[in-house]
Amino acid sequence: MKKINWNNLSKDEIIFLLETQDNKIIQELYKNAYQTKVENVGKFVYFRGIIELSNICEKNCFYCGIRKDNLNVNRYFMTDEDILEAAKFAYEMNYGSIVLQSGERKDKNFIDKIEYLLKEIMKLSNNELGITLSLGEQNYTTLQKWRKAGATRYLLRIETSKKELYKKLHPENHSFDERIACLKNLRKLDYQVGTGVLIGTPYQTTEDLADDIIFYKENDIDMIGMGPFIPHPDTPFGNVLKNYSETKQLELGLKMIALTRLFLKDVNIASTTALQTLGKDGRSLGLLAGANIIMPVITDSKYRKKYLLYQNKPSLDENKEDFRKRLEIKINSLGEKIFYGKKGDSPHYKKRRKL
Ligand code: 5AD
Ligand code: SF4
Repeated sequence: MKKINWNNLSKDEIIFLLETQDNKIIQELYKNAYQTKVENVGKFVYFRGIIELSNICEKNCFYCGIRKDNLNVNRYFMTDEDILEAAKFAYEMNYGSIVLQSGERKDKNFIDKIEYLLKEIMKLSNNELGITLSLGEQNYTTLQKWRKAGATRYLLRIETSKKELYKKLHPENHSFDERIACLKNLRKLDYQVGTGVLIGTPYQTTEDLADDIIFYKENDIDMIGMGPFIPHPDTPFGNVLKNYSETKQLELGLKMIALTRLFLKDVNIASTTALQTLGKDGRSLGLLAGANIIMPVITDSKYRKKYLLYQNKPSLDENKEDFRKRLEIKINSLGEKIFYGKKGDSPHYKKRRKL
């Protein structure tokens, strides 16, 4: 291959880089992506404390451990008290932002509860905490209600930007078009819009992944949260990938971060927990490949073991304060600084809105 144009990658170059096994080129990819990150978002890491409110989900995605039909899951909904306490912890620790995540539910009780919690969290943090929601597909009215109550960002992974592949990863009643429509509604409601894909799933090609990165750009996405697929034994995809390798999944995850950084430049990109599951220091490697966001789980440990989207999810027994300290030491050792007390809005969003 001729010289790679790192600043303006073509689709063919993205595919080539996803496929290459040449370690020299792979290291060059990470180095260039890191450089692009430093130029666009600095040597900073922002924390988003993630609260996993509930593992109750109406959906049945083939890959997910908390899918509705997995009867081995012990379902929970955190108490209001525990949720608000976790939010307070994040505020007092100066995390700047939190993410409220749960399985998908669309009933009135759920919608009202989230609205109530948003208002309470705004109160307890003097309107200072940035709140991201990651609560699945919701209709315009619900999203509007939550926006008014204080949420400013929303994460809805498209999982794959290819409709045909989407159909293979989900049961028939899960609609790709509705998911796209939901992303559009988030934009209309002036949320900072986050999305992402599952990397290395059954039936996926490297061209699909290249198209995912192009999809992010074409849809002017502000925040990216994506991670490698990790099989969960109690799901239809528990055993589908015959040549599954943790090392390969990790590498593909890191390459996707690097390529997304090079192609989109000024967005926020998360180094996700799934990376950490696949390799020691996976999350640090994510930062060195171009990510700038870390989402420490701050869900109380009594719930954490039950929020298993995939196998071997780490930190299950960790105390959240120890975890933060260890993470801080680790991040500083990479020459990066944690930006405490700042919401850390996506620079792309600010430019887009001319803020
Ligand atoms: N491996 C990795 N990520 C998964 N998710 C669900 N199941 C898995 C899995 N087996 C991710 C999905 C979803 C997010 C909350 O968790 O991408 O959007
Ligand atoms: Fe539910 Fe999300 Fe899991 Fe799908 S990926 S089953 S929507 S929690």
